[in-house]
Parts: sequence; C-alpha cells; structure tokens
Amino acid sequence: MPQVWYGVHGRGTVGEGVLTSGFSRVDGTLSCEGVSLERIAEEVGTPAYVYSSSVVRDRYQRLDAALANIPHRIHYTLKANSNRGILAVLHELGAGVDVVSGGELFRAKRAGFAGSDILFGGVGKSQAELKEALQAGVRMINVESASEVRMINDIAGELGLVAPIGIRVNPEVTVDSSHKYIKTGEKGAKFGVPFDEVPGVAMLVAVLPNTRLIALDMHIGSQLFRLDGYVDGTNRLLELIAQIGEAGISTLEYLDIGGGLGVAYDDEKSPDLDAFAAALAERVTPTGLTMLMEPGRFIVGNCGVLLTRVLYRKHSGGRDFLVTDAGMTELIRPSHYDAYHRIERVRATESRMTADVVGPVCESGDFLALDRTMDEAGPGDLLAVYDVGAYGYVMASNYNSRPRGVEVLVDGDRFAITNERERYEDLVRLEQADPQWRDG
Ligand code: LLP
Repeated sequence: MPQVWYGVHGRGTVGEGVLTSGFSRVDGTLSCEGVSLERIAEEVGTPAYVYSSSVVRDRYQRLDAALANIPHRIHYTLKANSNRGILAVLHELGAGVDVVSGGELFRAKRAGFAGSDILFGGVGKSQAELKEALQAGVRMINVESASEVRMINDIAGELGLVAPIGIRVNPEVTVDSSHKYIKTGEKGAKFGVPFDEVPGVAMLVAVLPNTRLIALDMHIGSQLFRLDGYVDGTNRLLELIAQIGEAGISTLEYLDIGGGLGVAYDDEKSPDLDAFAAALAERVTPTGLTMLMEPGRFIVGNCGVLLTRVLYRKHSGGRDFLVTDAGMTELIRPSHYDAYHRIERVRATESRMTADVVGPVCESGDFLALDRTMDEAGPGDLLAVYDVGAYGYVMASNYNSRPRGVEVLVDGDRFAITNERERYEDLVRLEQADPQWRDG
C-alpha cells in the first residue's frame, strides 16, 4: 500500500492547523486580506495578479516550524514566482533561494540575497551563467553531468576558486504527480545524474583541483501528493552517501531533497507536514548533514489570484462562452497541463452557469476553464482565478503582442504595485528600426 501523506481534512487546512487563505468575502465582495479586489481592479486595471503576503509568510513559517527538529534551510525556488515583492517578504523571513538561470540569479541578488543564500541549479547552465554563479559566491552549484563538472572546474580554476558542488541525483523512483511534464525523478528523465553513475561523478568532483563535493541533491517532481517519492528518493541518496563515504570522500555537508510539495487547487487534501518531517528526520538526522529544501509551489501557489474582466458573453454550438481579458498569455497552466483553477465572480451571486472561460488570444487552446459550472457572469463582471501564485506570471508571454499584466502585493490593509503593467513601448524596446547590416 502506498503511503498517502495528504490524509487530513481538505482545502484550507494543513495537519491540524487552519491554513491562512488570504482571500475572503466582505459583504459579498472578495477581498485579499483587508483590501477589496474591486478596489484594486479599479486602481490598476485588469488583468492583474494579486498576491497575499500573509499567505506567503504562513506557508514559509509552517514548513520551517515542521522541520524544526532537523537542521535545515528552506531555499525558495524563484522559478515559481520571482516577483520582487514576494522575494522581499521571503528575504525578511530568512529564507534562502534556489535559482536556475543567470536571470534568476540577477533577480535574487537585486532582492538582497547574499551568495551564501543561493543554490544554483538547472539542467543546461551556460558557461557564462556558471561564471556568474561562481563570482556571486553561491552556496553551491547542483550539477547534472560529468561534463558540467569538468567545465566548472575549468572556470573555477580561471577564477582562482574552489567551486562548491552538489550532485543532482536522478534517484529513479516512481512519482505520483498530476501531469507527466512535472515528473522529474524517474529513470530516463533528462534531469540529474543517473543513479549508477553518481559514485563516479562524486570521485571526479573529489579529485579535480577546483571542485569540492558538499551535497547530494534530488528533485523528483512537482505537485506531489504522496510521501513515498520523498522516502524512496531519500533512501536512495542515503545508499549513495554510504558508498561515497566508503570511497573516502568526507566533505559532504548537505542533503537537498528538492521541492515538489503539492497544494490544493480544488478539493485535494493538504499535506500533513508533521508526517513529512518525521519521515525525513528519521533518515536525515543520523547522517549529521543539513537538509536543504527547494519548495516553490507550496510557498506561493495559494497566495495569488488573477483578476480578469469579462468582455463578452456568447453562445455557440450549444455552449456558453465567457470571453475574458486574460487567457493563456496570463495563465498557461489550464491549456498546457489541463490544470484546474477555481474561478469565482468577485461580487457574489447565487445564480450559476456552465461556461467555457476563454481568453482573447487567437488559439483554440486559449482557455482558463472548460465546461465549468460557476457563478453566472456577463460583460463587465470581474472574475478571480484562484491559486495563480506559482507558475502564473512567470510563465506569461507576449503572444499576440499582449503586454504582461500588473502584479500587486497586499499586506494587511495596504497594497502596492510590485511590477508595473507592460506598455506597448516595452514590447518594442529591443527592436531595431534601422538595423545595422553586417557582412556575412
Ligand atoms: N527544484 C527543482 C530542481 C525544480 O525543478 C523545481 C520545479 C522545484 C525545485 C520547485 O518545485 P515545486 O516546489 O514548485 O513543485 N510549471 C509547472 C511546474 C514546473 C516545476 C518545475 N520544477 C506547473 O505549472 O505546474
């Protein structure tokens, strides 16, 4: 029997405690913390991403508290949401970060994170990015192949440094995720060093003059609903730690278990963090290593809504359509992963309808929900698309030359724009009206 770790209550609770939701109705109108979403939409327009800072604080502190008995550090994964305001909240809480590109490294440093707060990962880091990471003095670089190790050794040698290395292991375990695109730790995945090759890569890191092996790392997938993957994966890392120790390498300091904790989008059960922590403590504590985690979705997934206005309502082929001013350019998850995001009218109504909620983009795959039974709505109505805090804005695009929407952070009774809406000029900022032709 697989060990189901999402065993408690439903949406809105975790373990025995009530999760901070950040969104509630005041006199029938949705608010984020103490601020009405209608007021925000009037002020900043739509589409707008609205984030609750108290949800971010709640999730970080909850996870940190659950892991209290294990020496650990939480490194928030920027790819889920790299908004400056969110990073400021997490920096203040003492989080570290995990980045996967030079661009994310740049953002993390701008937000005040020191090199020692930063883990640098990713399956295809360029030479330039590796140099930037080493110059920034990151806590470690998680490598994914022997050739990457050699490249880092060369760059570190040129810089006169010794590079701190974690090996991202593919633990080759079965993972239970909602979509095949977000499984990463199964045999044959493009990610990580294949399990059997890890001792060889560890030896390479140990013998090269400019690299030092300080960690083993895994990331098995995202939106995970079972404990099994973490338990099996950690057991596999422990096997490797023993083998590496027997080979005489004694420089390990960290065991990084990656991200992946799931969140409720619909009526999924929330994680029992205590069971999660207990299973890990049992395995990690005897190693004497510090545990690192790279959560993204768990910290920010439930913290944000996408505000969008209904432009038109129409009927075609026996179906009702709500055409909204946001679509796949603002939130690609429904179209890319068949993901479910709850949608409500900001002003409450008792009437219900069944509709396809579609965006303005010229693609049939441009939708936020299909065949959804939801609040009745029509032109001018404001809708809230829930749980867009993770993999929302960061996956937005300019397709159809649509400027990206505005991002707003709420803190109690106050709100602030933390990232302006793009303007048309931003779309053409890099264009060359008078291109400089070169001889080929
Ligand atoms: N660490 C590594 C190495 C990762 O690749 C990821 C996510 C994380 C940590 C954070 O995982 P999380 O805690 O957020 O599950 N765009 C997809 C999700 C892609 C996840 C990619 N890797 C989605 O919208 O569902």
